[in-house]
Formats: sequence, structure tokens, C-alpha cells
Amino acid sequence: MSQKTWGGRFTGATDKQVELFTESISFDRRLYRHDIIGSQAHARMLAEVGLLTAAEAEQIVRALDEIRDTIEAGQMEFSVSLEDIHTHIERALIAKLGDVGRKLHTARSRNDQVVTDLKLWTRDAIDELDARLADLQRAFVESAERERGVIIPGYTHLQRAQPVLAAHYFLAYVEKFQRDRDRLADARKRVNVLPLGAAALAGTSLPIDRESVRAQLGFDSVARNSLDVSSDRDFALEFVFALSLIATHLSGWAEEWVIWSTTEFNFLDLPDGFCTGSSIMPHKKNPDVLELTRGKTGRVIGALQQLFILVKGLPLAYNRDLQEDKTALFEAFDTVQGCLAVAAPLVRQTKLRRDVIESRLDAGFLDATTLMEALIARGTPMRSAHEIVGNLVRECEQRKCRLADLPDSSYPDASVKAALGVGNALAAFKSYGSTAPAEVDRQLREWQTQLS
Ligand code: ARG
Repeated sequence: MSQKTWGGRFTGATDKQVELFTESISFDRRLYRHDIIGSQAHARMLAEVGLLTAAEAEQIVRALDEIRDTIEAGQMEFSVSLEDIHTHIERALIAKLGDVGRKLHTARSRNDQVVTDLKLWTRDAIDELDARLADLQRAFVESAERERGVIIPGYTHLQRAQPVLAAHYFLAYVEKFQRDRDRLADARKRVNVLPLGAAALAGTSLPIDRESVRAQLGFDSVARNSLDVSSDRDFALEFVFALSLIATHLSGWAEEWVIWSTTEFNFLDLPDGFCTGSSIMPHKKNPDVLELTRGKTGRVIGALQQLFILVKGLPLAYNRDLQEDKTALFEAFDTVQGCLAVAAPLVRQTKLRRDVIESRLDAGFLDATTLMEALIARGTPMRSAHEIVGNLVRECEQRKCRLADLPDSSYPDASVKAALGVGNALAAFKSYGSTAPAEVDRQLREWQTQLS
């Protein structure tokens, strides 16, 4: 008898090259746990509606548990002739139970099965990532707490702009990763809609109960249109988009810290455990973890491109192209997961070089904008105040001095000089969401409560 689940229709065997070309077992085997819980829920439902006896369902559920244990013990033999994980598990079941095993696939197709497995897997992946992102946020919050009083230069165009509290800086990343978590939570809503029961594409004439399967598997609702179900990979694209944005956030941060760890900046003391040396230059300490975090972003965004190109132009309903979704999904997830695993400890172990940062705070006119605002507060129109301070900065560049070093006579009103100096400039901030010390303190407390 043919090994194939579709063997009845065929007399000739599948070409060996074609088996190699069409297999997915080499990458979809990691869905085994989700395939098994999906099948167990399906079997229980089949018994509830009378398509299996209770004893048969019981046998199937138990045998599937054993198959899971066999796979986890590394004792399942995988073969490309059985194509995918779904076929392997069904074949193993039939080998154990004979005719009872041959009933499991009643009112089900691999088309709705594979997307159910993928959604169950994606749901777990989202929950795992959420926990990792929360840990990374905690690492940034801990840094914010540790470096609370420290003032650093804030940059735009990578040019010195205005002073900010280090805590404000660290909390900026907490915000980015919070949006990433919110995005994942939103994508999860569309992941959590049950596909199973759509069968091949049109549903089934058998009396299935999709609500029972929904409740057993913890889905929020049941997919309404069977034709839509087996072609729907929106959830995978959304998830990989969310992953791409996480990777992009990580990449920007990594780039910043690569720059900050140069001799030229020297803002950071990176932990030895997260750097590597050079085989020829004895003095080198390279920020490889940060560089690879930046570099691996390409894989994730590449996976998103791969998925878009995969689904674009596919007619309804299932098309075999869709088998190719998994490599992109897994690659994107594994990459981001790997980056997050090293990011949190790296953040926790990295210290600011406070002395270096402080010794250079006077450079770059970080107090110029506050000086302009002090003039505005005294009634000077904004554009005029801008021009006055611009002229003062030019004068400083000629004299090679700070704004505070200019004679009183250079100022239209010498009392505005009280605004000068990085400490005064920082203390002057007031607005909601600004780097004002009270504002940053309040937000730090809020994050500490929210993330505890
Ligand atoms: N290996 C296939 C996949 O992962 C399973 C679904 C196949 N369905 C089909 N009608 N050939 O997409």
C-alpha cells in the first residue's frame, strides 16, 4: 500500500527528487506539539458529535501523547517520503491504533490543520516574546534608576542638541519596546481565531462542532469563511512585521552603542563578556554583540519581504506555495528571540562613563536652546531670540569659549545668563514628556510599577 495519504488516486510512486523538493518535514517538525494538541482537540470534538466513540477518542488522545514523548525523546524517524509533520504524526498514530487511527483525519484537511498549527505556534511565540521584551524594558528601567542623576548630551543628526537626563534616554527605549509589545498583543487578536473546521476549503458535510474545538484550544472566536481560512497568512505577515520593527529598534540602539563605545565617544563601559578581541591587535575590545544585533536585522526584514512575495498573487484557497511560509516565520522569530536574549543582560551590565560624559558637557552649546527660551520668556519674539543666540554662538566660536564666558555686554539682558550651563538648562525644562527631572522621576516610578 502507498505510504501517501492520497495513495488511492495514484498507481505510480512519487519521484524521489520530487519528494526531496516538496518535503517540509525538515522545517515543520518543530510544529509537532501544536499539531498534537490540535489533533487531540479535534478527536475529542469528533467523539462529542458521534463521529468517534468516547473510547476511540480516548485511545487517540493517549496515543498522541505517546507520539509526542517519542518525538521529544528523539526516537521518531523522519522521512521525506512522509512530507510533513502532519503526515508523520498521523502515520505513527495509525501504526499504533490501526483503523481507529485512520479515523482521526475525519472532517479535516491538512489545509486547515497546517494553519491551525501555525496559529497555535505563533500564539506561543508572541507570548514568549512579550516576556522577553518586558525583561528588556526592565533592564532599561534599572539603568534609568542607576544613572538617575546623570546628565548626557542629547543628539539630533548625531550633533549635540540639548542636555537630557540619562534616565530620560533609557526610558525612551522602554517606550519603543512597549509599542512593540502592544503591536504583538494586537496581532495576537487576529492570530487567535480558529481555522480548524474549514476543512479543505468549503467546510464539511459532517456534523462537526467548531465551537468545541475553539474552547478546547483557547481561541477567541471561530473563523467565519472557510475559503478565506486556508489562504489566510495575514497573521504571519503581521507577526513578522512586528518582529521587523523590534529588530529595527534593536538595530538603532545597537548602532548607537557601537558609536558610544568608540574611543572618540567613550561614553560606555561595555562588559567583557559581551565583547570579543582581535586575533592580531592585542588592544582591541570589539562590540560584536551589538554589531550582530544590527546585522541580524536584515534576516528579519528579509523574512517579511519573503512572506509578502510569497502571498502576493495567490488565488483562493490553499496553494502549495504556502508551505514556504514557515522558514520565514521561524527565521524571523529565532533571530529576534536570539537578539533579545543577549540584549537584556548587555543593558544590565553596561555602565555609563560618567566622568568622561561630565567632563565634556560644556562642549557643543547644549544650553543654547534654553538660553533662547529664556529670552522668549522675557518677551523677545521667538525668531529674534533665535537670531540673537545664533549670533552669540558665532561669537563664542570666534573666541573659542562657552556662552557663559561671553561678557555681559554681549547679552541684550545679562539676567538671562542665569539660564546658562548644562545643569541650569536641564533644570529649566517643564513640559509634559520632557526631560524635566520631576517629569522623568514620575515616569520612572510609573514604569517601575507597571513592569514589576
Ligand atoms: N506540507 C503542507 C504545508 O505545509 C501541508 C498542507 C498540504 N496540503 C495539500 N493540500 N497538499 O503547507
